[in-house]
Amino acid sequence: MLLIDSIPQMQRTADELRINGKRIGFVPTMGALHQGHLDLIRTAAQTCDTVVVSVFVNPSQFGKGEDLSRYPRNLERDQGLAADAGCDILFVPDADAIYPEGFCTWVQVEGLGGLLEGAFRPTHFRGVTTVVTALFNIVKPHLAVFGQKDAQQALIIRRMVRDLHMDIELHIAPTRRESDGLAMSSRNTYLSDSERERALALSRALTLAEAAFRGGERDARILRESVQNELRSGGVDTVDYVALVDAENLEELEWIEQRAALLAIAARVGTTRLIDNTILKVTE
Ligand code: PAJ
Repeated sequence: MLLIDSIPQMQRTADELRINGKRIGFVPTMGALHQGHLDLIRTAAQTCDTVVVSVFVNPSQFGKGEDLSRYPRNLERDQGLAADAGCDILFVPDADAIYPEGFCTWVQVEGLGGLLEGAFRPTHFRGVTTVVTALFNIVKPHLAVFGQKDAQQALIIRRMVRDLHMDIELHIAPTRRESDGLAMSSRNTYLSDSERERALALSRALTLAEAAFRGGERDARILRESVQNELRSGGVDTVDYVALVDAENLEELEWIEQRAALLAIAARVGTTRLIDNTILKVTE
């Protein structure tokens, strides 16, 4: 596996790969890799000749008072894990290189970017879409793989790629969970043992709602309330939102019809903010 930290070198390498007819797969990450990230790498490796993984803790997607300075960083461990999963090039740029002095160009998906996560983290998605655009311009991938764990992020990137005619195929991989249901996340390392126990309320609440939905419940208010109740009784400290929305346009639902619905949660356990989600869809 090659380690590249220079933007021009990454761009030259991507050009050479393309000239030689190689299909480039790309998995952007902020590092502290876990099995969820590795699934994305393996998915890219299935259909691509060269898999590039970026590790970049992107300052512009963290708000004031968020966890930018304490976000887990462990490049040595990430290198081994990425290589084993099938990564060919680990791209680790510097923040100063990604955001040169005088940087003032932002990519923003309006509407979608202001809802759910965007309502609690107003500049978050602007940071995500801007850095992903920059990374796409550097890595020049044919395919980029993202995770359903960040459902709204995946939706927003899909919209950005469509709206800006980016010639990139997207693949969204399912959420990888621990055996007890907790959605894998780099931020899980913040949780103490007792907090981790309480964090299980998120996946448990989603599983309960899925079961109710399978049993025929279509009333969004009832489904939302059952999730709220489970989160509260499970000992979550703050619920930022429990949203049941159209999975394409994020419009709030009163009733689940034929279209897929996204049930998304954001909650705090101690000082750690966690998100999780599931798709509810009527199957014929
Ligand atoms: P990060 O949180 O490191 O996640 C990188 C990718 O891994 C994202 O596409 C995310 O959805 C996916 N992922 C995280 N946990 C997952 C899980 N349990 N199962 C499956 N996939 C999972 O998301 C970001 O970084 C950043 O916003 C980024 C896109 C890199 C831009 O900075």
